Amino acid sequence: MGMKVHRNQPLPFLRYQPSLLRQAARRVRDLPAPGVSRKRHLLYDYSVMVSQIKRLALLGSTGSIGQQTLDVVRALPDSFRVVALAAGKNIGLLSEQVREFQPQFIYHSANGAAPDLPGLCKFLSLEEMAALPDADVVVIAASGSAGLAPTLAAVRAGKVVALSNKESLVSAGEIITSEARASGARLLPVDSEHSAIWQCLLGERQRAVKIILTASGGPFRGYTPARLEAVTVDQALKHPSWSMGKKVTIDSATLMNKGLEVIEAHWLFDMAYDDIKVVVHPQSIIHSMVEFADGAVKAQLSHPDMRLPIQYALSYPDRLPNPRLSRLDWDDIGCLTFEPPDLEAFPCLRLAVEAGRRGDTYPAVLCAAGEVAVDLFLQRRIGFAGIPRLVEQTLEQHKAMPHPSIEEVLMADAWARERASELAAGESLC
Ligand SMILES: NC(=O)c1ccc[n+]([C@@H]2O[C@H](COP(=O)([O-])OP(=O)(O)OC[C@H]3O[C@@H](n4cnc5c(N)ncnc54)[C@H](OP(=O)(O)O)[C@@H]3O)[C@@H](O)[C@H]2O)c1
Repeated sequence: MGMKVHRNQPLPFLRYQPSLLRQAARRVRDLPAPGVSRKRHLLYDYSVMVSQIKRLALLGSTGSIGQQTLDVVRALPDSFRVVALAAGKNIGLLSEQVREFQPQFIYHSANGAAPDLPGLCKFLSLEEMAALPDADVVVIAASGSAGLAPTLAAVRAGKVVALSNKESLVSAGEIITSEARASGARLLPVDSEHSAIWQCLLGERQRAVKIILTASGGPFRGYTPARLEAVTVDQALKHPSWSMGKKVTIDSATLMNKGLEVIEAHWLFDMAYDDIKVVVHPQSIIHSMVEFADGAVKAQLSHPDMRLPIQYALSYPDRLPNPRLSRLDWDDIGCLTFEPPDLEAFPCLRLAVEAGRRGDTYPAVLCAAGEVAVDLFLQRRIGFAGIPRLVEQTLEQHKAMPHPSIEEVLMADAWARERASELAAGESLC
């Protein structure tokens, strides 16, 4: 940070950041600026360092991705500062986070008596927070359909969006990507597979010809359809590689998650469905690959730890050392294996790719019916094999709306939730 200090230079906005103040003090001692008082030099260096910190609005702070994002901020306090936190109903955890990170703005969706939250935070709507002028990066880590409205608001406001919520892009990919093009917003993927693809594409002049999405295969890899009929909620919640929220964990067990990721990749990287291939790679070391015109394939490898793709989306274009992230141990990895997904045992992957290819409102119906089905499974009201059956029946009954507006996407979402619930109530899907 080589900077010149002038006597009358205005000082940027200051916020107390002890480690940066210590660094600035060291600089003033080691590199004195002639003709400038030590105090002014210190204030200037310190304020410039502070102004280079990226300010984050984190939506979904109490979830798995939200908490891991805060862990990245904890590890790199000189690089990131949290200015806004939004949660759903976990007010206890939100209060702890407010105490620790002292944001200026908060949101929660808990109804009833307003809980005591520490500090003097201003309450914003999710959409206001997503478009916050004070935030350099907006992290959308809210789950399910709750992510759609804020993603759209952030994109319309031209923000840098670190996007973890996949349902928004799946349901309204055409709208979100065209709004981003119009406003100049940047969509930076947080999902490990899409982060891997993004990292592989950086620095290339030509388009890739193929995307190879890797999948762990989930806890039931190798199971037959008959064996899957009997699996329990507890078994489905034990993912072999990743620790995640419940919805995405069940989606990983059915391979619906991989199907949603195919649609996400289609929109993020403008890649035809025929050129997106899914490969099961149980070790979860290769997070995805990209093939180029000459046949070369680039892959991104690391430990399965979501904090790495989260951090990269926050620090981009820089890479920052983070002692909390472990390194690959090449003596320990052993062999990396690959196999095709079993579409007969895991029909959700096929259903999702078909819905993506058909486009229009089918992906919104897929997402909404999928949320209802996972919810019913978690409540033990339908069996594991009932999830794809319910999603398929809902999709079959849908009359699609072509090139939907956001209102039509929301209508399709509401229709699918109601229809899926009716179907589940009227039939035995167990
Ligand atoms: N977890 C992963 O490793 C992973 C990896 C890749 C992609 N993703 C994607 O990232 C998203 C988040 O996943 P997750 O696993 O972190 O989910 P999660 O653990 O279930 O957390 C969801 C977060 O969203 C909040 N939320 C839910 N409804 C809300 C509402 N109406 N308004 C505001 N906030 C609301 C929750 O708040 P409360 O808990 O306070 O109610 C919580 O903070 C999903 O789209 C998922 O597919 C996750």
